[in-house]
Amino acid sequence: MEARNWWKEAVVYQIYPRSFMDSNGDGIGDLKGIISKLDYLKDLGVDVIWLSPVYQSPNDDNGYDISDYYSIMGEFGTMEDFDALLDGAHKRGIKIVMDLVVNHTSDRHKWFIESRKSKDNPYRDYYIWREGKDGKEPNNWGSRFRGSAWEYDEETDMYYLHSYSKKQPDLNWENVKVREDIYQMMDWWCQKGIDGFRMDVISMISKDQSFPDGEVKGLYGDFSPYIMNGPKVHDYLKEMNHKVLSRYDLMTVGETIGVTTGEAKKYASCKGDELNMIFQFEHVWLSEGKLGKWTDKKVDLIELKNVMSKWQTELKGKAWNSLYWDNHDQPRAVSRFGNDSTKYRNLSAKMLATCLHMMKGTPYIYQGEELGMTNVRFEKLEDYKDIDTLNTYEEYVSNGLVTKEEMMRYIHCKSRDNARTPMQWNDNSNAGFTAGIPWIKINPNYIDINAEAQVNDPDSVYSYYKKLISLRKQYDIIVYGNYQLLEKDHEKLFIYSRTLGNEKLLILCNFTEDIVDYGPEKEWESATVLIDNYSGVERKSNQLLPYEARVLYSYS
Ligand code: NOJ
Repeated sequence: MEARNWWKEAVVYQIYPRSFMDSNGDGIGDLKGIISKLDYLKDLGVDVIWLSPVYQSPNDDNGYDISDYYSIMGEFGTMEDFDALLDGAHKRGIKIVMDLVVNHTSDRHKWFIESRKSKDNPYRDYYIWREGKDGKEPNNWGSRFRGSAWEYDEETDMYYLHSYSKKQPDLNWENVKVREDIYQMMDWWCQKGIDGFRMDVISMISKDQSFPDGEVKGLYGDFSPYIMNGPKVHDYLKEMNHKVLSRYDLMTVGETIGVTTGEAKKYASCKGDELNMIFQFEHVWLSEGKLGKWTDKKVDLIELKNVMSKWQTELKGKAWNSLYWDNHDQPRAVSRFGNDSTKYRNLSAKMLATCLHMMKGTPYIYQGEELGMTNVRFEKLEDYKDIDTLNTYEEYVSNGLVTKEEMMRYIHCKSRDNARTPMQWNDNSNAGFTAGIPWIKINPNYIDINAEAQVNDPDSVYSYYKKLISLRKQYDIIVYGNYQLLEKDHEKLFIYSRTLGNEKLLILCNFTEDIVDYGPEKEWESATVLIDNYSGVERKSNQLLPYEARVLYSYS
């Protein structure tokens, strides 16, 4: 068995503060709101909260554009509120992992305000400035939020790089002073007693310094090969590890867009010289088409099994996986990988949870996933708030890449706002999220899907998650067992086993609404059922009902 670590045994719960719980009626979730729900999280049984950014920010990208790393966003509260949250969580045995956004800052950060003033300002090299070429941008790169990745700045007649919005200028990690300032800031938070970092697009911090044109995809050149997993990213992370991370008992997870299993073995190596684990994107990018993520194509189960299994087997003994179906950037798991119709919503939400939580790695639950919250379908574009959704609609529709109707269909499947509608706490007005007007509309299905209705119902999605989490605490095999995919070519079932010493688990998941004949091997006849989502329902042992999930345990 590989080395035990608390972060391998933990279950992480992601909070998107803006949409979690509003305590003061301004329609925006806040820190006091989170504090009021700590007992809910304690009851669920999670060990760690990953807090999406709570730092001061003009909110061009909902907090992923930070203007001061040392203070709390006014709408969310104060530093005293943060301290109370940290304390309240710790008292309940829950750790807090902060979002670390250091590929870029806000354009309102004091470093950038200085940097753009003049070519010889001491902060000039904190960002990436280049001369234009023939009166145009330095190269053809497109930003991930549409338009060019370069913004012209009149003050000094030069361009700065922004991989995301023009209000999120990229920091220049080549500059040792930038790195030192970032490490100092991280140290300050560690001194405060936080328990780790989730590192935003950390795979993008080192850029190919020749800044070549990228292959044109759509309207702009693709910067991925020159920005993702760049030449010095591992040097920087080793340095960060040496200077900060290794001095504390932290959990670190890198958001490593564009990562391969080969790269992952460096980022999240068992040697512990960079990060503990990373988020890979292969399973959430599977259905991508010519417009990237903007499609309504469903994921193919065989491809999904291949990708998930590749990560399970290739990292074995070398690096640690993190496991997720959704987060604040992705559609709701049940709508995307399951079936969000009234008939199958609960069953498929439980099936997906089983499939993920029984794999090897640290599982992440995104707020509301534990209730089976679904995608939302706003009819009007104005109801969407996400910068990515709005900019993409504008660029694609005005350039004739898609019709308005097509784009709305894609938005219903893929907009990040699917995950950002407020938490559904009860069936009171505004789902109990706020006493005011919510910053984004509530999903109308809160009447049926809400925490209050589920917490005391033993058959709810919530209670099922609670059971999965408690099983993880009882069975080492769930954390440390070896993974093996079975029935690789089966088009409807995802079946795999886990083994640890004399123990064995068989995980059976039906990803369809069909009844599927499948009888496990004889050796499983006397196995016990650890958890299943049809308990109490009479059924044959050689059949799986629609969206059924069953976990068998045997000991020899
Ligand atoms: C990834 C974050 O998860 C996303 O929400 C954000 O827009 C980008 N990084 C830019 O910070």
